[in-house]
Amino acid sequence: MPGNRPLDVQVSRRRVLQWGAGAALLGLTAGCSGTDDAGSTIGPDSPEVRAYAESEERRFPGGRPVAYELSATQSDVDIAGTRTAAWLYNTQLPGPILRADVGDRVQVRFRNQLPESTTVHWHGLAIRNDMDGVPDVTQSPIPAGTEFVYDFIPPDPGTYWYHTHGDLQRGRGLYGALIVDDPGAPSAYDTEFVVVLSDWLTERTPAEVFDQLRGGGMASMPGPDMTSAALGGDAGDVRYPVYLVNGKPPNDPTVFTARPGQRARIRLINAGDDTAFRVALGGHRLTVTDTDGFPVEPVDTGSVLIGMGERYDAVVTLQDGVFPLVAVAEGKGAQGFAVVRTGGGAAPDPAAAPRELTAPPLTVADLRATGADRLPVVDPDVTLEASLGGDMKKYSWTVNGQAYPDHTPLAVHSDQRVRLVYTNTTTMWHPMHLHGHTFAVARPDGSGPRKDTVIVLPGQSVATDIDTTNPGQWIMHCHNDYHLAAGMATIFSYVT
Ligand code: C2O
Ligand code: CU
Repeated sequence: MPGNRPLDVQVSRRRVLQWGAGAALLGLTAGCSGTDDAGSTIGPDSPEVRAYAESEERRFPGGRPVAYELSATQSDVDIAGTRTAAWLYNTQLPGPILRADVGDRVQVRFRNQLPESTTVHWHGLAIRNDMDGVPDVTQSPIPAGTEFVYDFIPPDPGTYWYHTHGDLQRGRGLYGALIVDDPGAPSAYDTEFVVVLSDWLTERTPAEVFDQLRGGGMASMPGPDMTSAALGGDAGDVRYPVYLVNGKPPNDPTVFTARPGQRARIRLINAGDDTAFRVALGGHRLTVTDTDGFPVEPVDTGSVLIGMGERYDAVVTLQDGVFPLVAVAEGKGAQGFAVVRTGGGAAPDPAAAPRELTAPPLTVADLRATGADRLPVVDPDVTLEASLGGDMKKYSWTVNGQAYPDHTPLAVHSDQRVRLVYTNTTTMWHPMHLHGHTFAVARPDGSGPRKDTVIVLPGQSVATDIDTTNPGQWIMHCHNDYHLAAGMATIFSYVT
């Protein structure tokens, strides 16, 4: 493949130029044409975005101010006795749990103490566009040594998360849970476990792994092929030395404690870069109640399959004893592991394979939105295509034939019903994420669950329905961080 080298170099040089464009960057998006839908782009600084923010303030009068301080720093982290270099929020892995009520006025004073620029993205929240934290799309990158105040109103309760949106920064440790409570809704559980899953590199940085992928090497330790029937083939590009649950490896696990008979709400968040997890709690069935922050009709399962960026909430009634919470790195022959303890007994084996894992895992196909959370069934005003492509030899990943930042925006107007259809022409699965909206997985009867990230298997098409109620420029991308870095992204662009 030496013939591909010059092209690789060109591609990365173009990225550097565009991403470093500084003050001109908001013009970068605004200047993109290629749509015959005339009209001007609604950018983060547009009056429409201010109007949206003001209408949210009116919708939630009396929201409490909630202030957080968040710093990103270079820090070491202890993984089972081995110090590893990391980039962390508030020196924690994962970052601190941020929590607010629906309608609160959340202000996060963010300090960037990293050696490079960054931004923070609030994954899944339909907030004002200028607070979405995407460099060169919704804000200028926050330079090293400076700060930025994020100021937004979380509009929907549920399990969300936050992470850096800088190039290949997330895998260094910059992620954490963001929980939005609904003070008006009685909680149907006694205790809560927030479970952040991730894949962790010990010897290399994500940027080094990316270079290796681009160079044509498999960026993995030796081992059998990484394949999974549930993911339709290829499970991932990177085999990791360790998989973490709340920043802890299997031989030094997180322990969740509770009392027998308590109902626990388990909030699963996949913060990984390249790993789907199949999660089960030994000795228990999971009753899945929500995905991506939105309720579904409760459904029982032994295990769930969760792609990068997705969240699943499940309620369990806890038995008496000590139980393995297992997060199998799907198709990768290893697992993350934690312990749920409600009574005496020896800790389970970190390699435990609870029988709940034997049946196929629950996926989106098994879920139905609750009545109150369905989008009304109406004909789409416009149908947009996102064809997902890739060239494994060059390690280039594309949307509609272009590798971001090259892109042709998907142009929409406010107050439309948009159908966005993802078609996966590659041999690998992609967890596709749209910022600023919670779409519905399209079904004729309107029962499709609300999601902000949906798995699209190889050869599959997945249609999603979106009500365009949040004007701005919204990135849509694969949540595999290597695929995003290699170009699998475009902009869902409101125009007037
Ligand atoms: Cu988790 Cu662009 O996002
Ligand atoms: Cu992908």
